[in-house]
Amino acid sequence: MQQELSLILPDDFHIHLRQGRDLANYAKSAALQFGRVLAMPNTEPPINSPEAVKKYKEEILAAAPNLEVLLTFKLNKNYTEQELLDMKKNGAVAAKYYPLGVTTNSQDGISKIEDIYPTIELLEKLDLVLCLHGEEPEAFCLDREREFLKHLEKLCKTFPNLRIVLEHVSSADAVEFVKKLPQNVAATVTVHHLILTLNDIVGDSLCPQNFCKPLPKFPKDKAAVREAVFSGNKKFFLGTDSAPHSLEKKECLCGAAGVYSAPVAIPILIEEFENENKLNLLSDFVAGYGADFYKIPRQTKKATYAKEEWQIPKTIDGAVPLRAGQTLKWKAK
Ligand code: DOR
Ligand code: ZN
Repeated sequence: MQQELSLILPDDFHIHLRQGRDLANYAKSAALQFGRVLAMPNTEPPINSPEAVKKYKEEILAAAPNLEVLLTFKLNKNYTEQELLDMKKNGAVAAKYYPLGVTTNSQDGISKIEDIYPTIELLEKLDLVLCLHGEEPEAFCLDREREFLKHLEKLCKTFPNLRIVLEHVSSADAVEFVKKLPQNVAATVTVHHLILTLNDIVGDSLCPQNFCKPLPKFPKDKAAVREAVFSGNKKFFLGTDSAPHSLEKKECLCGAAGVYSAPVAIPILIEEFENENKLNLLSDFVAGYGADFYKIPRQTKKATYAKEEWQIPKTIDGAVPLRAGQTLKWKAK
Protein backbone atom coordinates (compact mmCIF):
# COMPACT_ATOMS: atom_id res chain seq x y z
CA MET A 1 0.00 0.00 0.00
CA GLN A 2 1.23 3.46 -0.90
CA GLN A 3 2.53 5.27 2.21
CA GLU A 4 3.72 8.50 0.73
CA LEU A 5 2.53 10.72 -2.07
CA SER A 6 4.27 13.56 -3.81
CA LEU A 7 2.32 16.16 -5.77
CA ILE A 8 3.12 19.45 -7.42
CA LEU A 9 2.35 22.09 -4.79
CA PRO A 10 -1.39 22.69 -5.28
CA ASP A 11 -3.09 25.82 -6.62
CA ASP A 12 -6.46 26.99 -5.35
CA PHE A 13 -8.24 28.95 -8.04
CA HIS A 14 -11.04 30.17 -5.75
CA ILE A 15 -10.53 31.07 -2.11
CA HIS A 16 -11.93 33.59 0.36
CA LEU A 17 -9.32 35.07 2.66
CA ARG A 18 -11.57 37.82 4.14
CA GLN A 19 -10.21 41.02 5.64
CA GLY A 20 -9.09 42.72 8.85
CA ARG A 21 -7.96 40.62 11.76
CA ASP A 22 -9.13 37.33 10.24
CA LEU A 23 -7.10 37.71 7.07
CA ALA A 24 -3.71 36.80 8.54
CA ASN A 25 -4.93 33.49 9.98
CA TYR A 26 -6.79 32.45 6.85
CA ALA A 27 -3.86 33.41 4.62
CA LYS A 28 -1.40 31.47 6.79
CA SER A 29 -3.64 28.41 6.81
CA ALA A 30 -3.99 28.62 3.02
CA ALA A 31 -0.23 28.85 2.61
CA LEU A 32 0.20 25.55 4.48
CA GLN A 33 -1.83 23.82 1.77
CA PHE A 34 -1.35 25.79 -1.43
CA GLY A 35 1.50 27.40 -3.30
CA ARG A 36 -0.74 29.73 -5.22
CA VAL A 37 -4.27 31.05 -4.69
CA LEU A 38 -6.81 33.17 -6.52
CA ALA A 39 -8.32 35.40 -3.82
CA MET A 40 -11.97 36.41 -4.16
CA PRO A 41 -12.99 40.08 -3.88
CA ASN A 42 -16.19 39.92 -1.79
CA THR A 43 -14.46 41.43 1.22
CA GLU A 44 -15.79 44.32 3.30
CA PRO A 45 -15.14 46.78 1.66
CA PRO A 46 -14.98 45.03 -1.72
CA ILE A 47 -11.91 44.85 -3.92
CA ASN A 48 -12.99 47.11 -6.75
CA SER A 49 -10.21 49.55 -7.60
CA PRO A 50 -6.54 49.35 -8.60
CA GLU A 51 -5.58 50.64 -5.14
CA ALA A 52 -7.71 48.02 -3.39
CA VAL A 53 -6.16 45.23 -5.48
CA LYS A 54 -2.68 46.42 -4.59
CA LYS A 55 -3.46 46.82 -0.88
CA TYR A 56 -5.15 43.42 -0.63
CA LYS A 57 -2.20 41.69 -2.23
CA GLU A 58 0.19 43.42 0.18
CA GLU A 59 -1.92 42.45 3.18
CA ILE A 60 -2.05 38.79 2.15
CA LEU A 61 1.68 38.69 1.46
CA ALA A 62 2.45 40.35 4.80
CA ALA A 63 0.77 37.38 6.51
CA ALA A 64 1.93 34.66 4.11
CA PRO A 65 5.08 35.78 2.26
CA ASN A 66 5.55 32.46 0.48
CA LEU A 67 2.07 32.32 -0.96
CA GLU A 68 1.78 33.30 -4.59
CA VAL A 69 -1.28 35.53 -4.73
CA LEU A 70 -3.44 36.12 -7.77
CA LEU A 71 -6.17 38.68 -7.36
CA THR A 72 -9.71 39.24 -8.56
CA PHE A 73 -11.82 42.37 -8.49
CA LYS A 74 -15.57 42.66 -8.07
CA LEU A 75 -17.72 43.51 -11.07
CA ASN A 76 -20.09 45.73 -9.13
CA LYS A 77 -19.91 48.53 -11.70
CA ASN A 78 -18.41 49.27 -15.10
CA TYR A 79 -14.70 50.03 -15.25
CA THR A 80 -12.63 52.11 -17.65
CA GLU A 81 -9.95 50.43 -19.73
CA GLN A 82 -7.30 52.29 -17.74
CA GLU A 83 -8.69 50.99 -14.44
CA LEU A 84 -8.65 47.45 -15.78
CA LEU A 85 -5.08 47.85 -17.00
CA ASP A 86 -4.04 49.18 -13.59
CA MET A 87 -5.74 46.32 -11.77
CA LYS A 88 -3.98 43.88 -14.06
CA LYS A 89 -0.67 45.59 -13.35
CA ASN A 90 -1.36 45.32 -9.61
CA GLY A 91 -1.89 41.56 -9.75
CA ALA A 92 -5.47 40.96 -10.85
CA VAL A 93 -6.00 38.14 -13.34
CA ALA A 94 -9.79 37.90 -13.21
CA ALA A 95 -13.01 39.79 -12.60
CA LYS A 96 -15.68 38.23 -10.42
CA TYR A 97 -19.35 38.54 -11.22
CA TYR A 98 -21.92 38.18 -8.44
CA PRO A 99 -25.64 38.44 -9.15
CA LEU A 100 -27.38 40.77 -6.71
CA GLY A 101 -27.93 39.16 -3.31
CA VAL A 102 -26.95 35.68 -4.40
CA THR A 103 -24.43 34.95 -1.62
CA THR A 104 -22.19 36.43 1.08
CA ASN A 105 -21.50 40.15 0.54
CA SER A 106 -23.27 40.39 -2.78
CA GLN A 107 -25.70 43.17 -1.84
CA ASP A 108 -23.72 45.29 -4.32
CA GLY A 109 -24.03 42.59 -7.00
CA ILE A 110 -25.46 43.09 -10.48
CA SER A 111 -29.19 42.73 -11.23
CA LYS A 112 -28.84 42.59 -15.03
CA ILE A 113 -25.65 41.15 -16.45
CA GLU A 114 -26.03 43.09 -19.72
CA ASP A 115 -25.51 46.29 -17.71
CA ILE A 116 -21.84 45.41 -17.38
CA TYR A 117 -21.31 44.13 -20.93
CA PRO A 118 -19.14 47.22 -21.70
CA THR A 119 -16.68 46.05 -19.04
CA ILE A 120 -16.94 42.41 -20.11
CA GLU A 121 -16.02 43.49 -23.64
CA LEU A 122 -12.88 45.09 -22.19
CA LEU A 123 -12.07 41.94 -20.21
CA GLU A 124 -12.10 40.06 -23.51
CA LYS A 125 -9.91 42.70 -25.14
CA LEU A 126 -7.37 42.69 -22.26
CA ASP A 127 -7.46 38.90 -21.88
CA LEU A 128 -8.66 39.04 -18.27
CA VAL A 129 -10.71 36.05 -17.08
CA LEU A 130 -14.39 36.38 -16.14
CA CYS A 131 -15.25 34.33 -13.05
CA LEU A 132 -18.97 33.74 -12.64
CA HIS A 133 -21.01 33.04 -9.58
CA GLY A 134 -23.50 31.31 -11.84
CA GLU A 135 -26.81 31.38 -10.01
CA GLU A 136 -30.06 33.13 -10.85
CA PRO A 137 -31.11 34.57 -7.46
CA GLU A 138 -34.87 34.64 -8.12
CA ALA A 139 -35.13 30.96 -9.05
CA PHE A 140 -35.89 28.15 -6.61
CA CYS A 141 -32.69 27.42 -4.69
CA LEU A 142 -31.94 24.06 -6.34
CA ASP A 143 -32.65 25.44 -9.83
CA ARG A 144 -30.56 28.59 -9.58
CA GLU A 145 -27.49 27.26 -11.35
CA ARG A 146 -29.44 25.70 -14.19
CA GLU A 147 -31.46 28.91 -14.64
CA PHE A 148 -28.21 30.86 -14.98
CA LEU A 149 -26.97 28.85 -17.96
CA LYS A 150 -28.87 31.05 -20.42
CA HIS A 151 -26.64 33.95 -19.36
CA LEU A 152 -23.53 31.84 -19.83
CA GLU A 153 -24.68 30.87 -23.30
CA LYS A 154 -25.27 34.49 -24.27
CA LEU A 155 -21.88 35.53 -22.87
CA CYS A 156 -20.14 32.88 -24.96
CA LYS A 157 -21.91 34.00 -28.12
CA THR A 158 -21.31 37.70 -27.50
CA PHE A 159 -17.67 37.38 -26.38
CA PRO A 160 -16.27 34.33 -28.19
CA ASN A 161 -12.66 34.99 -27.14
CA LEU A 162 -13.37 35.69 -23.48
CA ARG A 163 -12.04 33.15 -20.99
CA ILE A 164 -14.88 32.30 -18.60
CA VAL A 165 -14.88 30.18 -15.45
CA LEU A 166 -18.18 28.92 -14.08
CA GLU A 167 -17.22 28.82 -10.42
CA HIS A 168 -18.06 26.01 -8.00
CA VAL A 169 -20.04 23.95 -10.51
CA SER A 170 -22.70 22.00 -8.64
CA SER A 171 -25.28 20.57 -11.02
CA ALA A 172 -25.36 17.91 -13.72
CA ASP A 173 -26.92 20.44 -16.12
CA ALA A 174 -24.06 22.90 -15.69
CA VAL A 175 -21.39 20.19 -15.94
CA GLU A 176 -22.81 19.00 -19.25
CA PHE A 177 -23.19 22.57 -20.49
CA VAL A 178 -19.57 23.46 -19.75
CA LYS A 179 -18.36 20.26 -21.40
CA LYS A 180 -20.09 21.27 -24.64
CA LEU A 181 -18.82 24.86 -24.71
CA PRO A 182 -15.49 25.75 -26.36
CA GLN A 183 -12.15 25.43 -24.58
CA ASN A 184 -12.20 29.04 -23.37
CA VAL A 185 -14.94 28.07 -20.90
CA ALA A 186 -14.01 26.05 -17.83
CA ALA A 187 -15.34 25.36 -14.34
CA THR A 188 -13.87 25.21 -10.88
CA VAL A 189 -14.85 22.33 -8.64
CA THR A 190 -14.91 22.53 -4.85
CA VAL A 191 -14.10 19.68 -2.51
CA HIS A 192 -17.51 19.98 -0.89
CA HIS A 193 -19.45 19.67 -4.15
CA LEU A 194 -17.47 16.51 -4.86
CA ILE A 195 -18.47 14.87 -1.59
CA LEU A 196 -21.74 16.41 -0.33
CA THR A 197 -25.37 16.37 -1.34
CA LEU A 198 -28.31 18.26 0.15
CA ASN A 199 -28.66 15.37 2.57
CA ASP A 200 -25.46 16.49 4.27
CA ILE A 201 -27.04 19.85 5.05
CA VAL A 202 -30.65 19.04 5.92
CA GLY A 203 -31.13 15.30 5.39
CA ASP A 204 -30.87 14.14 8.98
CA SER A 205 -29.88 16.94 11.29
CA LEU A 206 -29.21 20.52 10.29
CA CYS A 207 -25.51 20.98 9.48
CA PRO A 208 -24.74 24.67 9.12
CA GLN A 209 -21.06 24.04 8.41
CA ASN A 210 -22.04 22.40 5.12
CA PHE A 211 -24.41 25.18 4.09
CA CYS A 212 -23.04 27.06 1.11
CA LYS A 213 -23.90 28.61 -2.23
CA PRO A 214 -24.51 27.05 -4.61
CA LEU A 215 -26.21 24.36 -2.56
CA PRO A 216 -24.91 20.82 -2.92
CA LYS A 217 -27.78 19.12 -4.71
CA PHE A 218 -29.02 15.64 -5.67
CA PRO A 219 -26.88 12.48 -5.86
CA LYS A 220 -27.05 12.69 -9.67
CA ASP A 221 -25.53 16.18 -9.55
CA LYS A 222 -22.69 15.07 -7.30
CA ALA A 223 -22.15 12.10 -9.62
CA ALA A 224 -21.85 14.41 -12.64
CA VAL A 225 -19.31 16.64 -10.89
CA ARG A 226 -17.33 13.56 -9.87
CA GLU A 227 -17.44 12.09 -13.36
CA ALA A 228 -16.08 15.32 -14.85
CA VAL A 229 -13.19 15.33 -12.39
CA PHE A 230 -12.38 11.62 -12.32
CA SER A 231 -12.38 11.40 -16.09
CA GLY A 232 -9.52 13.89 -16.14
CA ASN A 233 -11.43 16.50 -18.14
CA LYS A 234 -9.10 19.51 -18.26
CA LYS A 235 -11.99 21.98 -18.20
CA PHE A 236 -12.57 21.11 -14.53
CA PHE A 237 -9.99 22.16 -11.96
CA LEU A 238 -9.77 22.85 -8.23
CA GLY A 239 -11.15 26.05 -6.75
CA THR A 240 -12.05 25.20 -3.17
CA ASP A 241 -14.36 28.16 -2.52
CA SER A 242 -13.08 27.80 1.02
CA ALA A 243 -15.22 30.40 2.76
CA PRO A 244 -14.71 30.65 6.52
CA HIS A 245 -17.27 32.29 8.77
CA SER A 246 -17.17 32.44 12.57
CA LEU A 247 -19.35 29.97 14.46
CA GLU A 248 -21.64 32.85 15.51
CA LYS A 249 -22.20 33.86 11.90
CA LYS A 250 -22.95 30.28 10.82
CA GLU A 251 -25.23 29.35 13.69
CA CYS A 252 -27.74 32.14 14.11
CA LEU A 253 -31.08 33.37 12.79
CA CYS A 254 -29.76 34.00 9.31
CA GLY A 255 -26.73 31.74 8.97
CA ALA A 256 -23.99 32.62 6.48
CA ALA A 257 -23.23 30.45 3.46
CA GLY A 258 -19.73 29.04 3.17
CA VAL A 259 -17.71 25.90 3.79
CA TYR A 260 -14.28 26.27 5.37
CA SER A 261 -12.28 23.68 3.49
CA ALA A 262 -8.80 25.08 2.85
CA PRO A 263 -7.06 23.29 5.75
CA VAL A 264 -8.47 19.88 4.78
CA ALA A 265 -9.04 20.13 1.03
CA ILE A 266 -5.98 18.31 -0.25
CA PRO A 267 -6.02 15.40 2.24
CA ILE A 268 -9.71 14.85 1.45
CA LEU A 269 -9.00 14.95 -2.28
CA ILE A 270 -6.18 12.44 -1.99
CA GLU A 271 -8.55 10.05 -0.23
CA GLU A 272 -11.28 10.57 -2.84
CA PHE A 273 -8.94 10.10 -5.78
CA GLU A 274 -7.38 7.05 -4.11
CA ASN A 275 -10.81 5.49 -3.53
CA GLU A 276 -11.62 6.01 -7.21
CA ASN A 277 -8.28 4.55 -8.22
CA LYS A 278 -7.50 7.84 -9.96
CA LEU A 279 -4.49 9.15 -8.02
CA ASN A 280 -2.72 9.53 -11.36
CA LEU A 281 -5.15 12.38 -12.23
CA LEU A 282 -4.84 14.32 -8.99
CA SER A 283 -1.79 16.43 -9.83
CA ASP A 284 -3.37 17.85 -12.98
CA PHE A 285 -6.60 18.62 -11.13
CA VAL A 286 -4.92 20.49 -8.28
CA ALA A 287 -1.85 21.90 -10.01
CA GLY A 288 -2.14 21.64 -13.75
CA TYR A 289 -5.33 22.38 -15.64
CA GLY A 290 -6.06 25.57 -13.69
CA ALA A 291 -2.63 27.06 -14.35
CA ASP A 292 -2.94 26.14 -18.02
CA PHE A 293 -6.34 27.81 -18.26
CA TYR A 294 -5.06 30.96 -16.55
CA LYS A 295 -2.03 30.89 -18.88
CA ILE A 296 0.47 30.88 -16.05
CA PRO A 297 3.35 28.43 -15.59
CA ARG A 298 2.63 25.25 -13.70
CA GLN A 299 4.39 25.25 -10.34
CA THR A 300 7.54 23.24 -9.98
CA LYS A 301 7.73 22.95 -6.17
CA LYS A 302 6.52 19.69 -4.68
CA ALA A 303 4.40 18.87 -1.66
CA THR A 304 4.58 15.53 0.14
CA TYR A 305 1.82 13.75 2.01
CA ALA A 306 2.07 10.77 4.34
CA LYS A 307 -0.50 8.09 4.98
CA GLU A 308 -1.10 8.94 8.61
CA GLU A 309 -4.45 9.15 10.34
CA TRP A 310 -5.39 12.43 11.98
CA GLN A 311 -8.54 13.92 13.35
CA ILE A 312 -9.79 17.18 11.92
CA PRO A 313 -10.13 19.68 14.80
CA LYS A 314 -13.61 20.90 15.76
CA THR A 315 -12.55 24.45 14.90
CA ILE A 316 -9.66 25.93 12.95
CA ASP A 317 -9.02 29.68 12.92
CA GLY A 318 -12.31 30.16 14.80
CA ALA A 319 -14.37 28.46 12.08
CA VAL A 320 -15.74 24.92 11.82
CA PRO A 321 -13.88 23.16 9.00
CA LEU A 322 -15.36 20.72 6.54
CA ARG A 323 -15.62 17.24 8.11
CA ALA A 324 -14.77 18.62 11.57
CA GLY A 325 -14.08 15.86 14.07
CA GLN A 326 -13.71 13.19 11.40
CA THR A 327 -10.58 11.16 10.70
CA LEU A 328 -8.55 11.60 7.54
CA LYS A 329 -6.06 9.13 6.13
CA TRP A 330 -3.55 11.51 4.54
CA LYS A 331 -1.59 14.34 6.09
CA ALA A 332 0.65 17.03 4.61
CA LYS A 333 4.26 16.46 5.67
O1 DOR B 1 -20.99 29.52 0.16
C1 DOR B 1 -20.45 30.50 -0.29
N1 DOR B 1 -19.72 31.33 0.49
N2 DOR B 1 -20.57 30.76 -1.59
C2 DOR B 1 -20.12 31.90 -2.13
O2 DOR B 1 -20.31 32.09 -3.29
C3 DOR B 1 -19.47 32.92 -1.29
C4 DOR B 1 -18.91 32.35 -0.07
C5 DOR B 1 -18.52 33.37 0.97
O3 DOR B 1 -17.90 34.37 0.63
O4 DOR B 1 -18.81 33.16 2.14
ZN1 ZN C 1 -16.58 31.84 -3.49
